[in-house]
Amino acid sequence: MEKRIVVLPGDGIGKEVTKGAVEVLQAVGERFGHQFHFTYGSIGGEAIDTYGTPLPDETIQHCKDSDAVLLGAVGGPKWDTQPPHLRPERGLLKIRKELNLYANLRPTSYYDSLAENSPLKKEYIENVDLLFVRELTGGLYFGKPSERVERDGKEAVVDTLYYQKSEMERVIKLAFELAEKRDQKVTSVDKANVLESSRMWREVADEISRQFPNVELEHMLVDNAAMQLVTNPKRFDVIVTENMFGDILSDEASVLTGSLGMSASASLSEDGPSLYEPIHGSAPDIAGQNIANPLAAILSAAMMLRLSFGMQEEAKAVETAVNQVLDAGYRTKDIGRTVNNYVSTSEMINEVKAMI
Ligand code: NAI
Ligand code: MG
Repeated sequence: MEKRIVVLPGDGIGKEVTKGAVEVLQAVGERFGHQFHFTYGSIGGEAIDTYGTPLPDETIQHCKDSDAVLLGAVGGPKWDTQPPHLRPERGLLKIRKELNLYANLRPTSYYDSLAENSPLKKEYIENVDLLFVRELTGGLYFGKPSERVERDGKEAVVDTLYYQKSEMERVIKLAFELAEKRDQKVTSVDKANVLESSRMWREVADEISRQFPNVELEHMLVDNAAMQLVTNPKRFDVIVTENMFGDILSDEASVLTGSLGMSASASLSEDGPSLYEPIHGSAPDIAGQNIANPLAAILSAAMMLRLSFGMQEEAKAVETAVNQVLDAGYRTKDIGRTVNNYVSTSEMINEVKAMI
């Protein structure tokens, strides 16, 4: 097969880890006889410096014309004092909207060889396998108005949590479809005791669940979910929730079984190319040192193979290679609590490629 992949390395370690994902995809292409064509685009702080905007129109068009997008990370202290429209994160929010990336999938998988890296005891995390489905283009992060106001003569501020019912339906339906192929359980997380938006969310989840008689639905309040994730993560299979709750809870879940440097994600589009990225940021504290863990980016590439290209065997080959490299004892610093010798980013990339 032939596929066009747009790579948006972004800032900081984004550049270092996407290089690994590209090289691993090239190795997959060679082994399985596919042609992956890579082209590069600009986003984030690096785009601000070059084009004066965090997401040039050219990048958007380029992504729309591709089969899939691979993103690194954006941001860094250099741009933290910029006005809101010139912040790297704006580029990220904008690309989600432009590509209609309505569902962010973040799996948390257990690696036996990394059990000692977890903040939880092994008995709590052994065989944890959960999947976050986070709504990505609505809710509090996009609602208008979002501004400073003066009300009753007082300095004040307003953010808006806005959802169309259809936006809830499409992401909740996807969660059920995914659960059908997994352990047939959906946990819908909300704050229905307080928020009207959550009460509608709950109604929609109940409605959709009728189409999936084999899938069990439970509702859970977000504060309880935050607690259960660390006390009993094994109880979860698929967790579906709105944008901000999902942002917070999925970061919490990602460290359960190891490191931020291991957690991949897919952001699925309803009508165009999907986007794949590690969930971590640009890590300015370690950027440029060749010590970042490239596995989250590499595992994001595996999700691309599976979800955008339907290449099951190829995706499995990448995941197996990562497992084998870990089992053989190779560790970058972030997952190396129990070893003395760390490998660099580029050594880790080479080991995975060699396994493939
Ligand atoms: P971060 O994820 O960049 O880093 C948090 C901590 O984890 C740091 O100590 C970092 O060194 C470590 N870390 C992260 N990824 C790692 C990897 N692959 N290997 C080894 N260690 C790793 O989050 P932070 O520090 O809150 O944000 C830094 C910048 O990244 C900010 O400008 C933030 O806005 C941006 N950011 C961007 C995201 C994106 O592009 N999707 C997501 C999160 C943050
Ligand atoms: Mg986040």
